[in-house]
Amino acid sequence: MNLVERVLLPSLIFTFLLFARCAHCALITLSIAGAVSSLGYYAYEKYKCQYQECCTDEYIPADLDGLEYIFAANLYGQQIAHVTIINAFRCHLENQNPSKALVMSFHGTPGTGKNYVAQMIAKTFYKKGVESNYFYFFNGRNDFPLQQKVDEYKDDLYKIILNALQKCERSMFVFDEVDKMPEDLLNVLVPFLDYKDYHKSIKSGFTYQNKAVFIFLSNTGSTQIVQHLTNVWMAGKGREDTKLQDFEKLIVEGAFREKGGFHYSDTIQTSVIDHYVPFLPLEEIHVRKCLKKVFKDRDITPTEEMVEEVLSHVTFGPEPYNLYSMAGCKRIEQKVATIVYRKQTESKLDLSES
Ligand SMILES: Nc1ncnc2c1ncn2[C@@H]1O[C@H](COP(=O)(O)OP(=O)(O)OP(=O)(O)O)[C@@H](O)[C@H]1O
Ligand SMILES: [Mg+2]
Repeated sequence: MNLVERVLLPSLIFTFLLFARCAHCALITLSIAGAVSSLGYYAYEKYKCQYQECCTDEYIPADLDGLEYIFAANLYGQQIAHVTIINAFRCHLENQNPSKALVMSFHGTPGTGKNYVAQMIAKTFYKKGVESNYFYFFNGRNDFPLQQKVDEYKDDLYKIILNALQKCERSMFVFDEVDKMPEDLLNVLVPFLDYKDYHKSIKSGFTYQNKAVFIFLSNTGSTQIVQHLTNVWMAGKGREDTKLQDFEKLIVEGAFREKGGFHYSDTIQTSVIDHYVPFLPLEEIHVRKCLKKVFKDRDITPTEEMVEEVLSHVTFGPEPYNLYSMAGCKRIEQKVATIVYRKQTESKLDLSES
Protein backbone atom coordinates (compact mmCIF):
# COMPACT_ATOMS: atom_id res chain seq x y z
CA MET A 1 0.00 0.00 0.00
CA ASN A 2 1.48 3.35 -0.95
CA LEU A 3 1.05 6.71 0.73
CA VAL A 4 -1.97 7.66 -1.42
CA GLU A 5 -3.82 4.54 -0.40
CA ARG A 6 -2.84 4.78 3.24
CA VAL A 7 -3.37 8.47 3.94
CA LEU A 8 -5.00 10.32 1.13
CA LEU A 9 -7.84 7.96 0.23
CA PRO A 10 -9.16 7.52 3.79
CA SER A 11 -9.08 11.30 4.23
CA LEU A 12 -11.07 11.87 1.07
CA ILE A 13 -13.61 9.17 1.92
CA PHE A 14 -14.00 10.65 5.35
CA THR A 15 -14.56 14.10 3.85
CA PHE A 16 -17.14 12.74 1.44
CA LEU A 17 -19.08 11.02 4.21
CA LEU A 18 -19.12 14.15 6.25
CA PHE A 19 -20.42 16.13 3.35
CA ALA A 20 -23.10 13.54 2.81
CA ARG A 21 -24.40 13.85 6.33
CA CYS A 22 -23.53 17.54 6.65
CA ALA A 23 -24.17 17.72 10.34
CA HIS A 24 -21.47 20.10 11.36
CA CYS A 25 -19.84 22.45 8.89
CA ALA A 26 -16.85 23.01 11.18
CA LEU A 27 -16.06 19.35 10.95
CA ILE A 28 -16.21 19.54 7.18
CA THR A 29 -13.77 22.41 7.12
CA LEU A 30 -11.47 20.48 9.41
CA SER A 31 -11.54 17.39 7.30
CA ILE A 32 -10.92 19.36 4.12
CA ALA A 33 -7.93 20.94 5.80
CA GLY A 34 -6.77 17.45 6.81
CA ALA A 35 -7.08 16.17 3.26
CA VAL A 36 -5.25 19.15 1.83
CA SER A 37 -2.41 18.82 4.34
CA SER A 38 -2.16 15.07 3.61
CA LEU A 39 -1.94 15.91 -0.06
CA GLY A 40 0.73 18.53 0.68
CA TYR A 41 2.69 16.05 2.76
CA TYR A 42 2.45 13.44 0.04
CA ALA A 43 3.63 15.90 -2.61
CA TYR A 44 6.50 17.06 -0.36
CA GLU A 45 7.64 13.50 0.31
CA LYS A 46 7.40 12.62 -3.36
CA TYR A 47 9.23 15.62 -4.78
CA LYS A 48 11.52 16.88 -2.01
CA CYS A 49 14.51 14.94 -3.31
CA GLN A 50 14.35 16.88 -6.56
CA TYR A 51 15.19 20.02 -4.64
CA GLN A 52 17.24 18.89 -1.67
CA GLU A 53 19.80 16.21 -0.88
CA CYS A 54 18.37 12.86 0.19
CA CYS A 55 19.96 9.67 1.42
CA THR A 56 19.39 7.94 -1.92
CA ASP A 57 21.52 6.41 -4.67
CA GLU A 58 21.03 9.52 -6.73
CA TYR A 59 22.80 11.65 -4.13
CA ILE A 60 25.18 8.91 -2.98
CA PRO A 61 26.48 7.42 -6.23
CA ALA A 62 29.63 6.01 -4.53
CA ASP A 63 31.36 6.03 -7.90
CA LEU A 64 34.33 3.70 -7.32
CA ASP A 65 35.32 3.58 -10.98
CA GLY A 66 35.50 7.37 -10.88
CA LEU A 67 37.59 7.21 -7.70
CA GLU A 68 39.98 4.72 -9.24
CA TYR A 69 40.36 6.94 -12.28
CA ILE A 70 41.09 10.01 -10.14
CA PHE A 71 43.65 8.06 -8.10
CA ALA A 72 45.40 6.83 -11.24
CA ALA A 73 45.57 10.31 -12.71
CA ASN A 74 46.32 12.48 -9.67
CA LEU A 75 47.75 10.47 -6.79
CA TYR A 76 51.51 9.91 -7.01
CA GLY A 77 53.59 7.28 -5.25
CA GLN A 78 50.78 5.79 -3.17
CA GLN A 79 50.12 2.48 -4.90
CA ILE A 80 49.46 0.61 -1.64
CA ALA A 81 46.94 3.23 -0.49
CA HIS A 82 45.31 3.26 -3.94
CA VAL A 83 44.73 -0.50 -4.06
CA THR A 84 43.83 -0.90 -0.39
CA ILE A 85 41.22 1.87 -0.37
CA ILE A 86 39.55 0.81 -3.63
CA ASN A 87 39.34 -2.85 -2.56
CA ALA A 88 38.04 -1.91 0.88
CA PHE A 89 35.24 0.17 -0.63
CA ARG A 90 34.37 -2.46 -3.22
CA CYS A 91 33.97 -5.15 -0.54
CA HIS A 92 32.00 -2.84 1.72
CA LEU A 93 29.60 -1.64 -0.97
CA GLU A 94 29.07 -5.02 -2.59
CA ASN A 95 27.59 -6.31 0.64
CA GLN A 96 23.95 -5.28 1.10
CA ASN A 97 24.18 -5.91 4.81
CA PRO A 98 27.77 -5.43 5.96
CA SER A 99 28.70 -6.92 9.33
CA LYS A 100 30.36 -3.68 10.42
CA ALA A 101 31.00 -0.10 9.34
CA LEU A 102 34.02 0.40 7.08
CA VAL A 103 36.85 1.84 9.19
CA MET A 104 40.16 2.95 7.71
CA SER A 105 43.07 4.77 9.24
CA PHE A 106 45.52 6.71 7.02
CA HIS A 107 49.08 7.14 8.34
CA GLY A 108 52.08 8.96 6.93
CA THR A 109 54.40 11.95 6.95
CA PRO A 110 53.09 15.45 6.08
CA GLY A 111 52.02 16.24 2.53
CA THR A 112 51.74 12.66 1.32
CA GLY A 113 48.06 12.91 0.37
CA LYS A 114 45.94 11.82 3.34
CA ASN A 115 43.53 14.78 3.20
CA TYR A 116 43.80 14.88 -0.58
CA VAL A 117 42.56 11.27 -0.77
CA ALA A 118 39.80 11.85 1.81
CA GLN A 119 38.55 14.69 -0.39
CA MET A 120 38.69 12.54 -3.52
CA ILE A 121 36.64 9.90 -1.73
CA ALA A 122 33.99 12.43 -0.65
CA LYS A 123 33.90 13.84 -4.18
CA THR A 124 33.13 10.52 -5.81
CA PHE A 125 30.98 9.11 -3.00
CA TYR A 126 28.51 11.97 -2.71
CA LYS A 127 26.99 13.99 -5.53
CA LYS A 128 27.67 17.11 -3.48
CA GLY A 129 31.17 15.97 -2.46
CA VAL A 130 32.52 17.50 0.73
CA GLU A 131 29.48 19.80 0.75
CA SER A 132 27.18 16.82 1.31
CA ASN A 133 25.09 16.85 4.48
CA TYR A 134 26.17 13.25 4.99
CA PHE A 135 29.90 14.02 4.99
CA TYR A 136 31.28 14.97 8.41
CA PHE A 137 34.78 16.32 8.95
CA PHE A 138 36.34 16.76 12.38
CA ASN A 139 39.74 18.24 13.07
CA GLY A 140 41.44 17.04 16.25
CA ARG A 141 43.29 20.27 16.89
CA ASN A 142 40.37 22.66 16.26
CA ASP A 143 37.31 20.70 17.29
CA PHE A 144 38.66 18.91 20.36
CA PRO A 145 41.53 21.05 21.66
CA LEU A 146 41.37 20.43 25.44
CA GLN A 147 42.19 17.18 27.24
CA GLN A 148 40.22 18.26 30.33
CA LYS A 149 37.02 18.56 28.25
CA VAL A 150 37.22 15.03 26.90
CA ASP A 151 34.00 13.85 28.60
CA GLU A 152 32.06 16.76 27.14
CA TYR A 153 33.51 16.06 23.68
CA LYS A 154 32.60 12.40 24.02
CA ASP A 155 28.95 13.22 24.75
CA ASP A 156 28.79 15.67 21.84
CA LEU A 157 30.47 13.31 19.42
CA TYR A 158 28.22 10.41 20.36
CA LYS A 159 25.12 12.54 19.71
CA ILE A 160 26.44 13.87 16.42
CA ILE A 161 27.15 10.38 15.10
CA LEU A 162 23.83 9.01 16.28
CA ASN A 163 21.89 11.89 14.68
CA ALA A 164 23.89 11.56 11.50
CA LEU A 165 23.13 7.84 11.20
CA GLN A 166 19.49 8.53 11.91
CA LYS A 167 19.45 10.91 8.94
CA CYS A 168 21.44 8.58 6.68
CA GLU A 169 23.14 5.28 7.41
CA ARG A 170 25.51 5.90 4.51
CA SER A 171 27.18 8.82 6.27
CA MET A 172 30.94 9.29 6.21
CA PHE A 173 33.02 10.62 9.10
CA VAL A 174 36.59 11.84 8.66
CA PHE A 175 38.71 12.57 11.72
CA ASP A 176 41.77 14.62 10.84
CA GLU A 177 44.84 15.11 13.04
CA VAL A 178 43.87 12.26 15.31
CA ASP A 179 47.26 12.60 17.00
CA LYS A 180 46.17 16.06 18.27
CA MET A 181 42.98 14.72 19.86
CA PRO A 182 42.58 14.13 23.58
CA GLU A 183 43.28 10.58 24.63
CA ASP A 184 40.18 8.46 25.24
CA LEU A 185 37.92 10.54 22.93
CA LEU A 186 37.85 8.00 20.12
CA ASN A 187 36.79 5.23 22.48
CA VAL A 188 33.26 6.65 22.31
CA LEU A 189 33.16 5.54 18.67
CA VAL A 190 33.80 1.87 19.34
CA PRO A 191 30.08 0.88 19.53
CA PHE A 192 29.52 2.45 16.09
CA LEU A 193 32.50 0.66 14.58
CA ASP A 194 32.08 -2.78 16.04
CA TYR A 195 30.60 -5.97 14.58
CA LYS A 196 26.81 -6.16 14.94
CA ASP A 197 23.97 -7.51 12.83
CA TYR A 198 22.34 -4.14 13.18
CA HIS A 199 22.52 -1.31 15.68
CA LYS A 200 19.69 -0.19 17.90
CA SER A 201 19.87 3.02 19.85
CA ILE A 202 18.38 2.55 23.29
CA LYS A 203 17.76 6.27 23.69
CA SER A 204 16.02 6.97 20.39
CA GLY A 205 14.90 3.44 19.56
CA PHE A 206 15.89 3.65 15.91
CA THR A 207 17.87 0.96 14.15
CA TYR A 208 20.48 1.32 11.44
CA GLN A 209 22.74 -0.93 9.43
CA ASN A 210 26.53 -0.90 9.25
CA LYS A 211 26.79 1.17 6.10
CA ALA A 212 28.75 4.13 7.46
CA VAL A 213 32.39 4.88 6.68
CA PHE A 214 34.88 6.16 9.26
CA ILE A 215 38.32 7.46 8.24
CA PHE A 216 41.07 8.55 10.61
CA LEU A 217 44.04 10.64 9.46
CA SER A 218 47.27 11.09 11.39
CA ASN A 219 51.05 11.26 11.31
CA THR A 220 51.37 8.45 13.83
CA GLY A 221 53.45 5.52 12.67
CA SER A 222 55.32 7.80 10.22
CA THR A 223 58.74 7.17 11.71
CA GLN A 224 58.23 3.45 11.32
CA ILE A 225 57.01 3.83 7.73
CA VAL A 226 60.01 5.95 6.75
CA GLN A 227 62.43 3.63 8.50
CA HIS A 228 61.02 0.56 6.78
CA LEU A 229 61.11 2.20 3.35
CA THR A 230 64.70 3.32 3.92
CA ASN A 231 65.65 -0.26 4.84
CA VAL A 232 63.99 -1.48 1.65
CA TRP A 233 66.00 1.08 -0.34
CA MET A 234 69.21 0.05 1.40
CA ALA A 235 68.49 -3.54 0.39
CA GLY A 236 68.50 -2.33 -3.22
CA LYS A 237 64.71 -2.43 -3.71
CA GLY A 238 62.08 0.22 -4.38
CA ARG A 239 58.71 1.24 -2.92
CA GLU A 240 56.97 -0.86 -5.60
CA ASP A 241 58.48 -3.94 -3.91
CA THR A 242 56.62 -3.21 -0.66
CA LYS A 243 53.14 -4.37 0.30
CA LEU A 244 50.47 -3.50 2.84
CA GLN A 245 51.42 -6.31 5.22
CA ASP A 246 54.95 -4.87 5.57
CA PHE A 247 53.55 -1.75 7.20
CA GLU A 248 50.37 -2.71 9.07
CA LYS A 249 52.01 -4.07 12.21
CA LEU A 250 54.51 -1.23 12.34
CA ILE A 251 51.76 1.37 12.09
CA VAL A 252 49.59 -0.24 14.77
CA GLU A 253 52.49 -0.38 17.22
CA GLY A 254 53.59 3.19 16.44
CA ALA A 255 50.09 4.67 16.64
CA PHE A 256 49.28 2.87 19.88
CA ARG A 257 52.43 4.11 21.61
CA GLU A 258 52.44 7.72 20.36
CA LYS A 259 50.62 10.48 22.22
CA GLY A 260 47.19 11.54 20.94
CA GLY A 261 43.84 10.02 20.01
CA PHE A 262 45.19 6.52 19.38
CA HIS A 263 47.32 6.38 22.53
CA TYR A 264 46.38 3.10 24.22
CA SER A 265 43.04 3.46 22.43
CA ASP A 266 40.20 0.93 22.44
CA THR A 267 39.76 1.62 18.72
CA ILE A 268 43.08 -0.17 18.20
CA GLN A 269 42.81 -2.66 21.02
CA THR A 270 39.38 -3.90 20.02
CA SER A 271 40.46 -4.34 16.38
CA VAL A 272 37.62 -2.29 14.96
CA ILE A 273 39.89 -0.53 12.47
CA ASP A 274 39.73 -2.64 9.30
CA HIS A 275 42.61 -1.15 7.32
CA TYR A 276 45.73 0.71 8.41
CA VAL A 277 46.73 2.46 5.21
CA PRO A 278 50.35 3.63 4.83
CA PHE A 279 51.02 6.85 2.91
CA LEU A 280 54.65 6.51 1.88
CA PRO A 281 57.01 9.50 1.99
CA LEU A 282 57.37 11.13 -1.43
CA GLU A 283 60.62 11.08 -3.40
CA GLU A 284 61.91 13.78 -5.75
CA ILE A 285 60.29 12.08 -8.72
CA HIS A 286 56.85 12.44 -7.09
CA VAL A 287 57.43 16.04 -6.06
CA ARG A 288 58.36 16.81 -9.68
CA LYS A 289 55.04 15.30 -10.78
CA CYS A 290 53.17 17.36 -8.19
CA LEU A 291 54.73 20.62 -9.28
CA LYS A 292 54.27 19.90 -12.97
CA LYS A 293 50.59 19.25 -12.33
CA VAL A 294 50.25 22.57 -10.53
CA PHE A 295 51.85 24.37 -13.48
CA LYS A 296 49.63 22.46 -15.90
CA ASP A 297 46.49 23.40 -13.96
CA ARG A 298 47.55 26.99 -14.59
CA ASP A 299 48.09 26.28 -18.30
CA ILE A 300 51.83 26.88 -17.99
CA THR A 301 54.62 24.70 -19.31
CA PRO A 302 57.45 25.36 -16.87
CA THR A 303 61.06 25.77 -17.98
CA GLU A 304 63.64 23.51 -16.32
CA GLU A 305 64.81 26.60 -14.45
CA MET A 306 61.31 27.10 -12.96
CA VAL A 307 61.10 23.43 -11.94
CA GLU A 308 64.51 23.63 -10.27
CA GLU A 309 63.51 26.80 -8.46
CA VAL A 310 60.45 25.12 -6.92
CA LEU A 311 62.57 22.11 -6.00
CA SER A 312 65.11 24.33 -4.27
CA HIS A 313 62.41 25.11 -1.68
CA VAL A 314 61.84 21.43 -0.91
CA THR A 315 63.75 19.91 2.01
CA PHE A 316 64.75 16.27 1.69
CA GLY A 317 65.48 14.03 4.67
CA PRO A 318 66.04 12.30 6.95
CA GLU A 319 69.82 12.43 7.22
CA PRO A 320 72.08 10.93 5.96
CA TYR A 321 70.30 9.68 2.81
CA ASN A 322 67.83 12.53 2.27
CA LEU A 323 65.59 10.40 0.10
CA TYR A 324 62.21 11.89 0.94
CA SER A 325 60.56 15.29 0.82
CA MET A 326 59.98 16.24 4.45
CA ALA A 327 56.73 18.09 3.63
CA GLY A 328 55.74 15.83 0.70
CA CYS A 329 53.90 17.91 -1.88
CA LYS A 330 52.64 20.41 0.69
CA ARG A 331 53.21 24.10 -0.15
CA ILE A 332 54.20 23.25 -3.75
CA GLU A 333 51.15 25.12 -4.97
CA GLN A 334 52.17 28.25 -3.09
CA LYS A 335 55.76 28.08 -4.38
CA VAL A 336 54.54 27.68 -7.96
CA ALA A 337 52.09 30.57 -7.51
CA THR A 338 54.91 32.84 -6.29
CA ILE A 339 57.16 31.96 -9.22
CA VAL A 340 54.37 32.41 -11.77
CA TYR A 341 53.43 35.76 -10.27
CA ARG A 342 57.05 36.93 -10.33
CA LYS A 343 57.54 35.85 -13.94
CA GLN A 344 54.36 37.60 -15.02
CA THR A 345 55.37 40.81 -13.22
CA GLU A 346 58.84 40.66 -14.80
CA SER A 347 57.46 40.21 -18.30
CA LYS A 348 55.03 43.12 -17.80
CA LEU A 349 57.94 45.31 -16.70
CA ASP A 350 60.00 44.21 -19.73
CA LEU A 351 57.11 45.13 -22.02
CA SER A 352 56.63 48.55 -20.47
CA GLU A 353 60.38 49.31 -20.71
CA SER A 354 60.68 48.30 -24.37
N1 LIG B 1 50.62 11.55 -3.24
C1 LIG B 1 50.27 12.73 -3.76
N2 LIG B 1 50.02 12.84 -5.09
C2 LIG B 1 49.67 14.03 -5.63
N3 LIG B 1 49.56 15.17 -4.92
C3 LIG B 1 49.78 15.12 -3.60
C4 LIG B 1 50.14 13.90 -2.96
N4 LIG B 1 50.31 14.15 -1.65
C5 LIG B 1 50.04 15.45 -1.47
N5 LIG B 1 49.72 16.04 -2.63
C6 LIG B 1 49.42 17.48 -2.82
O1 LIG B 1 49.82 18.15 -1.63
C7 LIG B 1 48.69 18.76 -1.00
C8 LIG B 1 48.78 18.55 0.51
O2 LIG B 1 48.57 17.18 0.81
P1 LIG B 1 47.64 16.67 2.00
O3 LIG B 1 46.95 17.83 2.62
O4 LIG B 1 46.78 15.58 1.51
O5 LIG B 1 48.73 16.12 3.00
P2 LIG B 1 48.51 15.26 4.31
O6 LIG B 1 49.03 13.90 4.03
O7 LIG B 1 47.13 15.38 4.78
O8 LIG B 1 49.55 15.98 5.29
P3 LIG B 1 49.49 16.29 6.88
O9 LIG B 1 49.96 15.05 7.55
O10 LIG B 1 50.47 17.40 7.08
O11 LIG B 1 48.11 16.68 7.21
C9 LIG B 1 47.48 18.12 -1.63
O12 LIG B 1 46.39 19.01 -1.67
C10 LIG B 1 47.96 17.76 -3.02
O13 LIG B 1 47.84 18.87 -3.87
MG1 LIG C 1 46.41 16.41 6.50
